[in-house]
Amino acid sequence: MGTALVTGATSGIGKEIAWQLAGEGNDLVLVARNTAALEDYADRLRNFTGQSIEVLSADLATEEGARAVADRTASREKPIGLVVNNAGFGLGQDFIGGSLERELQAIDVMARAILIICHSAANEFARRGYGAILNVSSMTSLTAQGTYSAHKAWVRTFSEGLAETLKPYGVSVTVSCPGLVHTEFHERTQVDASQWPDLAFIPVDKVASRSLDAVRRGRVIVTPSPLYAAAAGFLRLAPRRLVRSVAGPGRSGRHD
Ligand SMILES: NC(=O)c1ccc[n+]([C@@H]2O[C@H](COP(=O)([O-])OP(=O)(O)OC[C@H]3O[C@@H](n4cnc5c(N)ncnc54)[C@H](OP(=O)(O)O)[C@@H]3O)[C@@H](O)[C@H]2O)c1
Repeated sequence: MGTALVTGATSGIGKEIAWQLAGEGNDLVLVARNTAALEDYADRLRNFTGQSIEVLSADLATEEGARAVADRTASREKPIGLVVNNAGFGLGQDFIGGSLERELQAIDVMARAILIICHSAANEFARRGYGAILNVSSMTSLTAQGTYSAHKAWVRTFSEGLAETLKPYGVSVTVSCPGLVHTEFHERTQVDASQWPDLAFIPVDKVASRSLDAVRRGRVIVTPSPLYAAAAGFLRLAPRRLVRSVAGPGRSGRHD
């Protein structure tokens, strides 16, 4: 895939995707906010794999951060073959009584930054006639768990449309919709992950490998687990009233 740019590469799914890509012989650009964590991980990847690992520290909740990443994806001197828009977080609050600032950060990171980065990547990749984009959505794109679900539904629908737009140019777009994964995600959101049975969690290496495999095969949507693929089928067919009652806002088991 040449050089891959991965956002949210210091933890969880993004970190594992970066690991697998470097292990397969790809150079990387790692993106997140925490510069020390980025540098530390870049050193480890260089030592283990011998690949060239670049660090790009950026806050994707800001216009400046999103545009810096977008500019890097479109570089002609150091071309990017794969862009992975993975950075994201749970809101950890209710809409009523919650902080509007946090709501805006969430939509900026999980929708606006993806739009800005994909606009840049799509135009450059279409011009030169190759490249791939992997966007990380979620199973919650099919539920009604507040604004987080809405952002993930946007990522899913946007990616499907972009895949069609870019197909004639030889550029692929894949959207991955994982279910529960053990990462820092729940801890950062103060959600008690022990409320769900172990069976409900997909190992992070499987999420990464199945998502990357879908990119290689040019698949548009991947649900990287048979259990959640079945759940997705159910969610598409179930009456929305039922979906809202079992997977609506406030059903995330947060500690307050
Ligand atoms: N874990 C799950 O159960 C699950 C399920 C379905 C989908 N997902 C999705 O998978 C993606 C990865 O989540 P994860 O579970 O791997 O979470 P995680 O372990 O908390 O990792 C999140 C990553 O995103 C980065 N990030 C967060 N805010 C950022 C910002 N403003 N600017 C730049 N980078 C930022 C973090 O680094 P810094 O803090 O250093 O910036 C970190 O590297 C997210 O989009 C999430 O919504 C997760």
